Amino acid sequence: MTKRKLGNSDLMITPVGFGAWAIGGAGWEFAWGEQDDKDSIEAIHKALDMGVNWIDTAAVYGTGHSEEVVAKALEEYSGDRPYVFTKCGLRWNADGDVRRVLDPVSIREECEESLRRLKTETIDLYQIHWPPPMNDEEIDPAWDMMAKLQEEGKVRWIGLSNFNVEQIQKAQQVANVTSLQPPYNLVNRDVEDEILPYCYEQGIGVIVYSPMMSGLLTGKMTKERAANLPDNDWRKRNPEFSEPKLSKNLELVEVLKKIGEKHDKSPGEIAIAWTLSNRAVTGAIVGARNADQSKGVMDAAEVNLSEDEISKLGSVLGK
Ligand SMILES: NC(=O)c1ccc[n+]([C@@H]2O[C@H](COP(=O)([O-])OP(=O)(O)OC[C@H]3O[C@@H](n4cnc5c(N)ncnc54)[C@H](OP(=O)(O)O)[C@@H]3O)[C@@H](O)[C@H]2O)c1
Repeated sequence: MTKRKLGNSDLMITPVGFGAWAIGGAGWEFAWGEQDDKDSIEAIHKALDMGVNWIDTAAVYGTGHSEEVVAKALEEYSGDRPYVFTKCGLRWNADGDVRRVLDPVSIREECEESLRRLKTETIDLYQIHWPPPMNDEEIDPAWDMMAKLQEEGKVRWIGLSNFNVEQIQKAQQVANVTSLQPPYNLVNRDVEDEILPYCYEQGIGVIVYSPMMSGLLTGKMTKERAANLPDNDWRKRNPEFSEPKLSKNLELVEVLKKIGEKHDKSPGEIAIAWTLSNRAVTGAIVGARNADQSKGVMDAAEVNLSEDEISKLGSVLGK
């Protein structure tokens, strides 16, 4: 796979990275139902075998379990070690309920815990998962702590996730921002007007999340399956997976399928390739729960969509 430089860093990343949210497993507020660790490890190994050179996880995924599974997968892998990106700023209670906490003491504590779970001495990219819920004044001390962790070598580069332009600018007044991790896919294009152009102009690397809208655009989500998602799959509560939106979204999948047939690729790969066609996007974070799924999506960067295909896809749901 070709590689692209992430923002101001020395990280040369493949256009697709492995997303480790779903493999965190069940037992918390934003779980994806039950998940078998053996399948998760095979999914990671397959993605790495296919050339993917980075993994995105977070402390909160599976309340620490995703980081542990990533560490185990890498311990058992004989090939090159990928970059490991993780996140802080979401903490959980004993019931697995999640809240945003950005005070500097908490960030340092979270960093130590992630280093321990990931069994590493340095995190390649450390990201604030969500901005403060109420008060943007919390950004300054939080980002200052992130910069300290970078100076100390506990993390190599620092990035943001889910921040708007004003919030990014607040952080930039304190220290450089290497990357932003926003949601971006054919269903959710909110970042196109302001956030992506700002990052492009500022040289901030962009790694987009949920490029297949969390499984909705893979071709494997049907009305029946959406209606029968288990109660402990967060997608059951997401309006895009129920009517009236679901039917429209599945019409889009039909267009993805048609274009996919021309390229001999799956609808999910076409959806990912579409996100990569935006010049501001450095990479797409793609989730997979077993080796077969990895096989079906991690080569998405091979697809070269024509201008016609890009605009046809963009016009199905509009912005
Ligand atoms: N910063 C943030 O706030 C944030 C938020 C969301 C995500 N992320 C990151 O972005 C990553 C990717 O996003 P995402 O996990 O939401 O969604 P995604 O990459 O759009 O979709 C991944 C899901 O699609 C399904 N899938 C994957 N390959 C498939 C295949 N070959 N055939 C059929 N189905 C397939 C799997 O779910 P099923 O089999 O269960 O359908 C899988 O979990 C996350 O893992 C995480 O690292 C970050």
